[in-house]
Amino acid sequence: MRLFDTHCHLIDRAYAQDIDRVLDRAWRAGLAGATCVGYDLSSSLASVSLAGRDARLWAAVGVHPHDASRVSGEDFEKRLREMARDDKVVAIGETGLDFYRDLSPRPAQREVFRRQVRLALELGLPLIVHDRDAHEETLSVLREFYSSTAGDRPRGVMHCFSGDTGMAEACLGLGFYISFAGPLTYPKAEKARSVARVVPWDRLLVETDCPYLSPQSRRGRRNEPAHVADVVVALAAVKGVPPEEAARRTSRNARTLFGLAGKDPGRVNPSPASSRGEKEP
Ligand code: NI
Repeated sequence: MRLFDTHCHLIDRAYAQDIDRVLDRAWRAGLAGATCVGYDLSSSLASVSLAGRDARLWAAVGVHPHDASRVSGEDFEKRLREMARDDKVVAIGETGLDFYRDLSPRPAQREVFRRQVRLALELGLPLIVHDRDAHEETLSVLREFYSSTAGDRPRGVMHCFSGDTGMAEACLGLGFYISFAGPLTYPKAEKARSVARVVPWDRLLVETDCPYLSPQSRRGRRNEPAHVADVVVALAAVKGVPPEEAARRTSRNARTLFGLAGKDPGRVNPSPASSRGEKEP
């Protein structure tokens, strides 16, 4: 299967001892790509540097809502902008709102999210959005940028989607992708499966969010990119298609979202029409 893990935290200390073996298992499982996602400035920088080690790895740079209050007083955009000059950087994130754990005060979360939406627009990059118990507020920050008259609109993915069908429809209406992680494989995750059922194929993505959220078969243990295969199998079952088809479609979506056509070595360059909106080399 041709798999793409759109959200992994391979710079986490959980992999400090065996990152090479973890990557090796990922490639043997059929991963064609994986996006290493930062959650603060140092993990973002580390993700860019890790992505430089393999042609199949990419990076996202951003500040997680948990860390919002640590950066709200500084010009963190300057640092992210510098990192984004690296051709490996394909998204801004993860960013968003987390009103479940509330590790940063909500006003700081909103401000730092808003500033990253603005930065993503400036750089022409998609957003990787974390939304936990903040569905309405997340939509409302994004919508602020839709009401302005001129310019591009934010685009991106709602990572590890946890909303209901109505929330999914609102996100799809904004042009966002919906990404599912290990919870799609849990016996009790009927809500996630009912959402996956209605999301059109051209907006679906899969991820691990490793080292967290291991799929059912490995629940309670460390997760890793190779296990994105379990999410694809669960998605295929929901959609009633062979796993190979789910893998192919979600991988293609990942390449579209992150603008990878023309970036991968050994691939034919896209036609000018299809490369519109992609990152300049
Ligand atoms: Ni994450």
